[in-house]
Amino acid sequence: MFHREVYSLLHKILITEAPKPFRFLDIACGDAMGSATALNGTEISRYIGIDLSEPALALAEETLKPLPCPVTLVQADFAEALVDWAEPADVAWIGMSLHHLETPAKGKVVRHVRRLLDQGGLFLIWEPTLRDGEDRDGWLDRFEYGSRPLWAELDASEWNAMLMHMWESDYPEPASACHALGLEAGFRSAETVFVAPSELAQVYCYRP
Ligand SMILES: C[S@@+](CC[C@H](N)C(=O)[O-])C[C@H]1O[C@@H](n2cnc3c(N)ncnc32)[C@H](O)[C@@H]1O
Repeated sequence: MFHREVYSLLHKILITEAPKPFRFLDIACGDAMGSATALNGTEISRYIGIDLSEPALALAEETLKPLPCPVTLVQADFAEALVDWAEPADVAWIGMSLHHLETPAKGKVVRHVRRLLDQGGLFLIWEPTLRDGEDRDGWLDRFEYGSRPLWAELDASEWNAMLMHMWESDYPEPASACHALGLEAGFRSAETVFVAPSELAQVYCYRP
């Protein structure tokens, strides 16, 4: 999935473009392995992670121990938690999780994040992305038939479990719609900062 490339890009952006110091909101943080790598050596002053999964948060707690700042982990559905969320952030990150929502619900999340960020802040998301003119079935087919060799460590049942999850839960947008989600939420700019070599996903950066 190009985690290494994505999280090394996030690290570079945090070093060169984030406010100093910065408060980091990790939406759908999972086990936070990628974020912990990206945050290593940065001027982070506060970390908050939100995820539904208790086992993932237990791993995140261990993974984030080396961070030199207070860490709070919240077990919640981020789409619900962000509605009343009041604590501001300087950088918000969603790694591979917004696509579980359909377009209007994605828009609501992006609007809530915009409300929490000050001028000078950053919102970054890493999202599966449709090619121009491609529909969801086309993207799912491209994943299923085009990228099996990249997942050589998975046996057939693991691969099928992942495909099943994607068929049930993944709703990718084209890049133009991802840009529009940010601009419609009031961000002043929306740009693609990374395209995965597989062309199955992109990283987007929005600035208030
Ligand atoms: C593909 S993992 C990504 C984890 C991490 N952000 C990364 O980049 O490695 C997706 C994570 O999103 C979480 N998740 C999915 N939908 C969620 C929701 N509505 N609210 C909170 N967490 C959610 C899952 O529990 C899982 O940990």
